[in-house]
Amino acid sequence: MFFRIVILLMVMALSCPSVSSAEPASGDGEQQIWLIDDSPSFPGLRMIMLHKKEGRYEGSVTSDWYGVLPLLDLHVNGQDITFRLDNGNKAVSPTPVWHVNIHGTRAHIHGKIWYQNIDLDMRRGTGAEASLRHFPLVSSPAFTPVPSAGLARTPPMGWSSWNRFGDKIDDATIRQQADALVSSGLRDLGYIYVNIDDGWQGNRDASGIIHPNARFPDMKLLADYVHSKGLKLGLYSSPGPKTCAGYAGSYGHVEQDAKTYADWGVDYLKYDLCSGEAFYRDMDSIRRAYAQMGHALRATGRPIVYSLCEYGREHVGQWGTSVGGQLWRTTGDIEDRYQSMAVNGFDKNGDPADVKAGSWNDPDMLEVGNGGMTDAEYRTHFSLWALSAAPLLTGNDITKLTEETKNILGNENVISIDQDILAAPGQRLRRRGDIEIWRKTLADGVALGVFNRGHMMREVDLKDADYGVGHPRIITDLWSHQTIAPEKRHFRVEGHGVVLLKIVSDHANVR
Ligand code: GLA
Repeated sequence: MFFRIVILLMVMALSCPSVSSAEPASGDGEQQIWLIDDSPSFPGLRMIMLHKKEGRYEGSVTSDWYGVLPLLDLHVNGQDITFRLDNGNKAVSPTPVWHVNIHGTRAHIHGKIWYQNIDLDMRRGTGAEASLRHFPLVSSPAFTPVPSAGLARTPPMGWSSWNRFGDKIDDATIRQQADALVSSGLRDLGYIYVNIDDGWQGNRDASGIIHPNARFPDMKLLADYVHSKGLKLGLYSSPGPKTCAGYAGSYGHVEQDAKTYADWGVDYLKYDLCSGEAFYRDMDSIRRAYAQMGHALRATGRPIVYSLCEYGREHVGQWGTSVGGQLWRTTGDIEDRYQSMAVNGFDKNGDPADVKAGSWNDPDMLEVGNGGMTDAEYRTHFSLWALSAAPLLTGNDITKLTEETKNILGNENVISIDQDILAAPGQRLRRRGDIEIWRKTLADGVALGVFNRGHMMREVDLKDADYGVGHPRIITDLWSHQTIAPEKRHFRVEGHGVVLLKIVSDHANVR
């Protein structure tokens, strides 16, 4: 409450500048309020406010997504105003210059933020109108660590709606996918989370309680259904006011939302920074925002796996467990094409030092089976995620599972590399040109991936030490299911492909 009051006072100070007691510069105290009535929903522009203080103009733009953003490089030249905005993202340079041209009580504004061109009329407003468009800022509590909940001792496995369906989801789709996880046998291989990503949210009621949109008539009944299938239900939100697809986030409603999710029977929450990046810009504020939801989830008393999605900023792997998270995205969004998958999986899959039981780097959900890659590329994708001990959240339509896709997602030996009880992260042993050798220590041996990032088939010679297990040993090719001669070092790896080996000591021969 204290923080709310402080923030409110700050906003009032900005919107109602007082004239200083010193001799005011010419025009000091002048205030301009420009109301925007028909903004595109992103970024949901509400108004621009300018005021003149000590001979200089300051100002802000208020929007549904980013709250109150300061006007940068502001110049007021008679009827022409220019400024820039900082996108809400310090990693990206400010927007191009925005222009305002004033004609009496009307003005035209022209600019761009991210992909969105702005070309709109504005009208002069009053202080009373401005207060109706005021964005109520709130602050996260001071950081305190969230005690471990002991969840997700192996990387979470399941299905998520986003990669295949985007926000075109409804209750029936989720039930069908749950049914298919059971009938395909994938549930019994460990794929137990059914995660509804962005697109389920509706409006808040007068008490602020979030309700699903009309496509999800009863979230509790849906959770009951998913649970009746021996599965668990996941949901999605953001610490910002808007999720990435423009639905309601949890800003200002964190504890209330956590309680609602628990009441519905939710078992997993993905918490996606999205518009929150304008409010939480550095390590301290991002961590506080994520800790607030971490505490709120714990306070419900329900075991809810907490998936942090802030794209790997501020080395989240170093503090993810302290905010109650069990997994955290290490990078931006995966796309269903080889180069995107390879960048996430090979180059941006986090620091192996951050991985241990209950703490997982997440290079994003799987694209296996979505059609944009060859089967060889999907085997690379799945092998790389397994070697990285990454969460295995399928992102395809399970009702349309082909044999090839099932052979990949259902490869028990590869799954068991991912789920290995030692929770050791795989590491790149070396990279030479297009060839990468990755190794993961397992409770009962070693997994070795020989990857070819080039287009053409390549011949690769391994070193004896690469196997990590001395003689005698048994080597199995986990995709061809062949046993390999223990001395074999020479492999052919197809373009964008992988040879994935498991090596164990042949104790039977040790006398
Ligand atoms: C972000 C996330 C994605 C997905 C979408 C939903 O882009 O990184 O994984 O959740 O939001 O809008």
